[in-house]
Amino acid sequence: MKMEQIVNFCKNYGFIFPGSEIYGGLANTWDYGPLGVELKNNIKKAWWQKFITENDNSYGLDAAIFMNPEVWKASGHISSFTDPLIDCKDCKTRHRADHLIEGFTDEVIPDKMTDEEMVKYITDNKIPCPNCGKCNYTDIREFNLMFETSRGVVKDSTSKVYLRPETAQGEFVNFLNVQRTMRTKIPFGIGQIGKAFRNEITPGNFTFRTIEFEQMEHQLFCKEGSDSTFYKEYKEKAWNFLLNLGINEKNIQFHDHDKLSHYAKEACDIEYNFPFGFSELWGTHNRTNYDLSRHQEYSKKSMEYLDPETGEKYIPYVIESSVGCDRLALALLCDAYNEEKLENDTREVLKLHPYLAPYKVAILPLVKKYHSEKAKELYKKLTKHFVSIYDETGSIGKRYRREDAIGTPLCITIDDNTEKEGTVTIRDRDTMKQEIVKLEDIEEYINKRISL
Ligand code: GAP
Repeated sequence: MKMEQIVNFCKNYGFIFPGSEIYGGLANTWDYGPLGVELKNNIKKAWWQKFITENDNSYGLDAAIFMNPEVWKASGHISSFTDPLIDCKDCKTRHRADHLIEGFTDEVIPDKMTDEEMVKYITDNKIPCPNCGKCNYTDIREFNLMFETSRGVVKDSTSKVYLRPETAQGEFVNFLNVQRTMRTKIPFGIGQIGKAFRNEITPGNFTFRTIEFEQMEHQLFCKEGSDSTFYKEYKEKAWNFLLNLGINEKNIQFHDHDKLSHYAKEACDIEYNFPFGFSELWGTHNRTNYDLSRHQEYSKKSMEYLDPETGEKYIPYVIESSVGCDRLALALLCDAYNEEKLENDTREVLKLHPYLAPYKVAILPLVKKYHSEKAKELYKKLTKHFVSIYDETGSIGKRYRREDAIGTPLCITIDDNTEKEGTVTIRDRDTMKQEIVKLEDIEEYINKRISL
């Protein structure tokens, strides 16, 4: 399957539109349409349930996007959240040096090379510019990915603020607040879902890498010594969560990092087999006590935890689980999209887990003239409990096809028997089999079919 197919599918069915389209768009911004926003809401609900609500001793947070700029000094983002940028002198296009090398060979790992080594490798191997095919580049410049803006009326260095490039720092700076107000003990977790912003040099591949995206991040605060056990647990937790959402196990793989970030002791991605190959979907990182130690150093506030049982004081270690909601939505769409050959036909069918499907149920009168009144009555009733759609236009076969394409797991058809016998026909998206269900049993039937 090609990415182009997914992009067109999303645009045609109301999942994702190009951002600001009537003005010619704004590169690498995307707007979620009526179905896309339902899908994302369902993903976030599932994540929150697993990582906050039913996760031992875990608490939610919704921190501000703007943070004191000292946060980004402490976190290391001001000094080292950079990409190696290289320009083609001939066609003036801009590229990431590490991506040029990765696209050319598997034999070297750019993450392990200095900027000078990367330039030498690119020149020695005459790696062509992806745009014009020449090999005539500038030196590498390290380019900071944080978006800057200024607050207040005076634009000077003191007014500079950053749009957060990750949500995690919100958890770190609120570590003491949450611990105190929840009267909790280590190990405990803090998680949040929120927007992050990165001035990516080479965004692309649809919503895979964008300049604005939503992260779902959870930080587990634990004692040194227990960190590696929790690290393994959170790797498994992410993996099982994906399987539970219906992702095909063949399409995911673990990838342990060879080169670790300055703060990390262990790091691993779950990669998904996107149309352009296996790429990072979800990161699990053992961040040690780096973040809290740095915040202690920069804020001059003690980040020490006092163990009430042993009286011991220490700065906790952190195990981070981090995934982009948009990237996960893209993986789920790629995974669920099918073009199925039928006897005399083909159908597009989006085999999303029913819990994730934008509409849970479609209510379809068999013949508009005779059955629409009863169907509308049922629609009004069901829409109080389930995101539902009512459709009376076109043949029943065409309506089924449209619901298959947008992933609606159940289609309820209202026919003569609804009036006479108090029953409806419920059709299953995946098997296309139909069942007769009594009107009074419909809600229970749907609930059973859509649970996670
Ligand atoms: N707090 C750790 C952190 O931010 P990361 O690997 O840079 O780690 C975590 O990002 C996740 O956020 C990624 O695995 C990916 O799912 C998502 N993500 C990162 N950059 C993104 C971008 N430019 N566009 C969309 N999603 C992105």
